[in-house]
Amino acid sequence: MKPRNLLTDPTRSPLVAASILSADFARLQDDSQAAIDAGADLLHVDIMDAHFVPNLSMGPAIASSLRKAMPDVFMDVHLMVTDPETYIRRFADAGADSCTFHIEVVPEPEPLVGLAHELGMTAGLALNPDTPVEQILSHIELPDMILIMSVHPGFSGQSFISEVLEKMKQVRPLLRPDQRIEVDGGVSPATASSCREAGADVLVSASAIFGSDDYRREISALAGS
Ligand code: DX5
Ligand code: ZN
Repeated sequence: MKPRNLLTDPTRSPLVAASILSADFARLQDDSQAAIDAGADLLHVDIMDAHFVPNLSMGPAIASSLRKAMPDVFMDVHLMVTDPETYIRRFADAGADSCTFHIEVVPEPEPLVGLAHELGMTAGLALNPDTPVEQILSHIELPDMILIMSVHPGFSGQSFISEVLEKMKQVRPLLRPDQRIEVDGGVSPATASSCREAGADVLVSASAIFGSDDYRREISALAGS
C-alpha cells in the first residue's frame, strides 16, 4: 500500500524530497533507493517539455518504471509543461502519488486540481520566481501543496533566489495544517534553514543530495535534524 497521505500528514515535517534530476540515470533505481535509504521522504520527478522550460527531462515511462521498481516510494511529479491537462492522467496511470502543475499555464487551476484528486493523487500548484504571489492567492484552498520555485525552472544546480522567501511567508498563514509549502531550486544545507523558517515544509533538492558523497548527512542537514 502506497503512503498516499504523506504530504497531508502534518506530524511529518519537514519532508525532504530527493529530485532525481541529478541522479545517475543509468543507475536510477539504485540512486533513488540510496536517497530513500538515507532518509529522503519522497522522490521528486521533474518533467520538462522543452517548451515551458528550455530543457527536456523524462516522461511517464520513466515514472512507471520507477513505480514498478519502488512500489512503496512516494512519487512527487513536478510538471514543467505547457499543457499539464494532457499529461496528468498519464502520470496517474504511471503511479504518481502527487502531481504539481504551474499557475502560469493554468490560471484557473481548480478543475485540474479536482481531476488530480479524482485520479487519487494529491495536487500541487507551482509558482515561478518572476510570477507575483498574488496570482495564486485566490487559488490556494483546493491544492494540497503550493510549490514556490526558488530558481527559474529547467535545470538543477542553480543558485537559490532568496527573494522568494517573502512569498513563503505570505502564503504560510493562509494555509491549513494539512497543506504544504514546497520549495524547489538551489535548496542546500546553507539555504534550507531560511526556507524552513519562512514556512516551507517540503524541501526539494537535487544537486545537494546527489552531488554529495554522503546522502544521509545532506538530507539530515536539509531537514535540520
Ligand atoms: C528545476 C527543478 C528542480 C531541480 C532542483 O527546474 O524543478 O526540482 O531538480 O535542482 P537543485 O536542487 O540542484 O537546484
Ligand atoms: Zn522540480
